[in-house]
Amino acid sequence: MPRKFFVGGNWKCNGTRESIASLLKDFNGAVGEPDLDVQIVVAPPFVHCDFTKEKLPKGWELSVQNCWIGKGGAFTGEVSAEMIKDAGIPWVILGHSERRHLPQLKESDETVAVKVAYALANGLKVMACIGELLEEREAGQTQAVNERQLKAIAAKLKEEDWKNVVIAYEPVWAIGTGKVATPEQAQEVHEHVRAWVASNVSPSVAAEVRILYGGSVTAKNCVELAGKPDVDGFLVGGASLKPEFLDIIAAHK
Ligand code: G3P
Repeated sequence: MPRKFFVGGNWKCNGTRESIASLLKDFNGAVGEPDLDVQIVVAPPFVHCDFTKEKLPKGWELSVQNCWIGKGGAFTGEVSAEMIKDAGIPWVILGHSERRHLPQLKESDETVAVKVAYALANGLKVMACIGELLEEREAGQTQAVNERQLKAIAAKLKEEDWKNVVIAYEPVWAIGTGKVATPEQAQEVHEHVRAWVASNVSPSVAAEVRILYGGSVTAKNCVELAGKPDVDGFLVGGASLKPEFLDIIAAHK
């Protein structure tokens, strides 16, 4: 069964009601009937989710960019998986490198894993992010780091949970830098991730799970990346806020 191409747009901490209305007006004006061969999920900041939801092109889905580690309650500023589900938002991005590595956040592998399991247990679908730092790649630790991050998540999940998980490989050194991984670099890691899932979860999950590439994806580099057998789509940052996001969505064709 071919894996459906998947393009996520991570808006990060960007956007105003005015800019979002303008962007989505442009997207709605440009897209025709939904392309049934690609799954499109955009993740605005929490505060703009409802505003965005009502303006999304037909067939596009909504995501949040994080959620609390457990049940809601006296956790000022947090948003729980239950609330996100109640708000009718199906997806959440978890483990993004900006939440793993920013000094103000520093989410551990264990924290990410618990969040992933809790979100899935509460009916959300998860874009689970992994990826190595430049110094880890230069030290030859790329596969070890990605395996370590995957292992923490897999330890909390049952095999059936994986049908609601998409893995996003985002080399930290490519995020927001313009230094996109080469198609060969992306394929090498994606192939290794899929092999790890086959050995440590199951061959059927490995065959079905989408593995996205993220990190300086643009209209210029997306087609060659999408041509690699284990690149099932993208998690796009900066370019998801531009008209070229539509070109990236079309990269699978
Ligand atoms: O989650 C996607 C993001 O980290 C990639 O950012 O701006 O390099 O496409 P960007």
